Amino acid sequence: MTPLRVAVVGVGAIGSLHARIYAEHPLAEPAGIVDADPETARAAAEPLGVPWFTEVSDLLDSCDFAAASVSVPEHHRYRTAMPLARAGKHLLLEKPLAPTLAETDRLVSDVESTGVLTMVNFILRFDPRYTEAKAAASSGRLGDVHTIFARRRGSSLGADVYGVWTDLLISTGIHDLDVMAWLADSPVTRVYAETISRRSAPYGHDDAAMVLVRFDNGIVGSLETSWVLPTSIPAPLDASLQVVGTGGGVFIDGSNHGLTVVDSDRLSLPDLAHWPVAGGRVGGDLAASLDHFICSVRNGVPPEATLAEARHAQAIVDAAKRSASRNLPAGLTPPP
Ligand SMILES: NC(=O)c1ccc[n+]([C@@H]2O[C@H](COP(=O)([O-])OP(=O)(O)OC[C@H]3O[C@@H](n4cnc5c(N)ncnc54)[C@H](O)[C@@H]3O)[C@@H](O)[C@H]2O)c1
Repeated sequence: MTPLRVAVVGVGAIGSLHARIYAEHPLAEPAGIVDADPETARAAAEPLGVPWFTEVSDLLDSCDFAAASVSVPEHHRYRTAMPLARAGKHLLLEKPLAPTLAETDRLVSDVESTGVLTMVNFILRFDPRYTEAKAAASSGRLGDVHTIFARRRGSSLGADVYGVWTDLLISTGIHDLDVMAWLADSPVTRVYAETISRRSAPYGHDDAAMVLVRFDNGIVGSLETSWVLPTSIPAPLDASLQVVGTGGGVFIDGSNHGLTVVDSDRLSLPDLAHWPVAGGRVGGDLAASLDHFICSVRNGVPPEATLAEARHAQAIVDAAKRSASRNLPAGLTPPP
């Protein structure tokens, strides 16, 4: 079978993994790399033997490909994704779609008008533990679900690395808010959030947030997220999901993945869920998400994690931010 040729635009921390996963996939191959930083582009492209560029327009002029990952920071998403969509390339867009809901609405509307297949990279939907939670909630096995609790705690590294150009809720909390909406499968009635800002105050952002989401079917969701703890914490992320219903519950402990490594000066709990490398290949939910995208494009089947669902998650983040700034519950802004 002819491999699906995929380009990658933005090959920093996550985009370099996208490129590698396409190279390792039996039904795909990388076609070209774009990064605004020439050295970053070259370093990602050369080991894969593909051409590299610093502009999407040069990629489009020079390479033959069917699809692209757009893994630039969200404030560059629109200007890099739209030329690809207009050229008919199917898109895997990194989350979040844009920094604000208004910019998200513009991107969704303009990408949809091109008719390309588009998926948004909400990787938790491809984590087998979260997939199992979804299957249990949908099957009715959990009875009448009452509450969904989610936690995602990182270290102050998040504030230092990401606080410069993004913020906690839009970059990190959005993963769990998307999962909550996916599991509850019901419109959001209102959102209430309290936040605290110290280390990220110079950037005008929060270091921690507690978000309550009320769904129309009565489910109450609760998210705790932060990048407060010192970098000495043994696991890169402390995550959890707890779904509680009258017929039972699902409880995910993501504080470790059953692996402890002890060095002479440090104990660590490495992540094995998101992009572990085993047998020389990147695995985890990132690879599973890209596999789903490749299969969706090849088979012409609508993907999981659509533009509409990503817009919904962004609208919950938007309501949480409005709630926190006004000290009042907030409703979701409907799509235009
Ligand atoms: N789905 C996930 O689990 C996940 C994980 C990490 C990051 N992300 C998302 O991916 C995006 C990138 O995050 P990152 O951590 O890889 O950032 P990064 O800073 O490590 O990499 C971004 C890269 O994009 C390049 N770039 C910036 N503007 C560009 C432009 N106009 N054209 C081409 N290249 C450009 C930069 O030079 C850089 O190499 C963010 O939106 C982030 O939220 C998603």
